[in-house]
Amino acid sequence: MKAYHLTTFGCQMNEHDSERMKGMLESLGYREAADRDQAELILFNTCSIREKADTRLAGHLGEAKRLKGEDPEKVIGVGGCWSQSMKERVFEQFPFVDVAFGPGQVHRLAEFLTSDSLTAQGYFEFEGFTGHLPMRRARDFQAWMQISVGCNCRCAYCIVPSTRGREVSRPADELVAEAQQLAADGVREVTLLGQNVNSYGRDLPRDLKTSFAELLAMVDAIDGIDRIRYTSPHPKDMREDVVRAHAELDSVCEHIHLPLQAGSSRVLKAMRRTYDRGRYMNRVAMIRDVLPDVSLTTDIIVGFPGETEAEFAETLEVAEEVGYDSAFTFIFSPRRETTAAELCDAVPHEVKRERMERLVEVVQRRAYERSQRFVGRTVEVLVEGQSRTDPDRLRGRTRHNKTVNFSGVGEPGEMVWVDIKSATSTTLAGEADAADEPAVHGRLVDAADEPAVHGRLVDAADEPAVHGRLVERQLTKRGRLRCRSR
Ligand code: 5AD
Ligand code: SF4
Repeated sequence: MKAYHLTTFGCQMNEHDSERMKGMLESLGYREAADRDQAELILFNTCSIREKADTRLAGHLGEAKRLKGEDPEKVIGVGGCWSQSMKERVFEQFPFVDVAFGPGQVHRLAEFLTSDSLTAQGYFEFEGFTGHLPMRRARDFQAWMQISVGCNCRCAYCIVPSTRGREVSRPADELVAEAQQLAADGVREVTLLGQNVNSYGRDLPRDLKTSFAELLAMVDAIDGIDRIRYTSPHPKDMREDVVRAHAELDSVCEHIHLPLQAGSSRVLKAMRRTYDRGRYMNRVAMIRDVLPDVSLTTDIIVGFPGETEAEFAETLEVAEEVGYDSAFTFIFSPRRETTAAELCDAVPHEVKRERMERLVEVVQRRAYERSQRFVGRTVEVLVEGQSRTDPDRLRGRTRHNKTVNFSGVGEPGEMVWVDIKSATSTTLAGEADAADEPAVHGRLVDAADEPAVHGRLVDAADEPAVHGRLVERQLTKRGRLRCRSR
């Protein structure tokens, strides 16, 4: 049996494509090797979002070249966005590469491997989603679902439109069928993926048209899917119907990622973001009005060409005012074939670094303050595994997308209730609610269900004592009762 080794760079979309690549390779009879030097097939799923991604990849490719020097039979493949942005130049710069393909041609890898082709091959025309390929998920209970690919925006700094092309949505019925299958396989949390998820469906033919909010409702209706997340939305498309879906649909988590990029309207215009500071703040106000407790996170770029000190100060002001639960902060990095790469007036590196430090201070301080609201609360946690810092504790994630380290019992994939005792800017710490019945898992049970269910959701008419314990009742978003024993 031949072995492969795959290294993934970049975003969740790439992680997901890699799951499909692994599934496909395994269906071809390959197995995964723990190390690169034990693999006959060495693969990279690449990213090109920032310069750092390129430099990291170059080091890895150097090692692949050495391994191929030792054993010329090895096959080296490079897929993903960087590969797409380089096209045939991949072979010029890295002549030891045997096969190169963009994000829309994962299936071509199989074709290459099963053919007798001895010459290097490149596949760069978008041909479809990886949705039909087998998938090997990292965790049984969590899954990604690619709902669209590509992006019709023209943000001046972003390479994605040139690597992933124009936006193409998958029909909703196909996605619902996929989610149903995932639920049947034991998945409890799905993350809907797209470069611009909330403009989903606009490109679909009239008879198939579905809005993003409608898609959320369709996935929410599937039994077994307890949590729905999505990334990344664009503020311009964050309409009230999507925000209301968070309030009304039980599975849609209390977290919205709302990329800001910059706080100054002048810079936003130069970035071609299509909103200004005022409109962004209105969106935040609307979200907080409908969802007062929601977690808000963001992406911010520091040092866009021409960004003045006063304009940067506006970014600080917005970060201060919004109070994000967390933020990804990036130093501007000029990318090939983007309009921003051609702008003069680069901000000196030292200035960018100094601004970044000031921004991180504000982001972390506000995130720390925001985190404190969870202390004293009992929150539903989806157990992911052992704590990274203390093997005697467990780690999981709240609906607000906070990582929690806690003591108690629970298997990966289970929902447990955790009493939160303390919070840093990034993580929460607590103890599993000892009084909780192990069968609770925070699962919703129909009102018509029998009350014999160990404190699970019970009929409204049910007594507040299940098995002789006091039960705390919580109303879910749909007004159904969720009970916890106390
Ligand atoms: N330079 C710096 N950051 C960038 N991002 C995208 N392109 C660039 C770039 N050229 C950031 C944006 C985006 C996130 C995924 O990466 O903030 O939202
Ligand atoms: Fe990187 Fe963007 Fe491609 Fe994701 S879509 S892998 S972030 S370039």
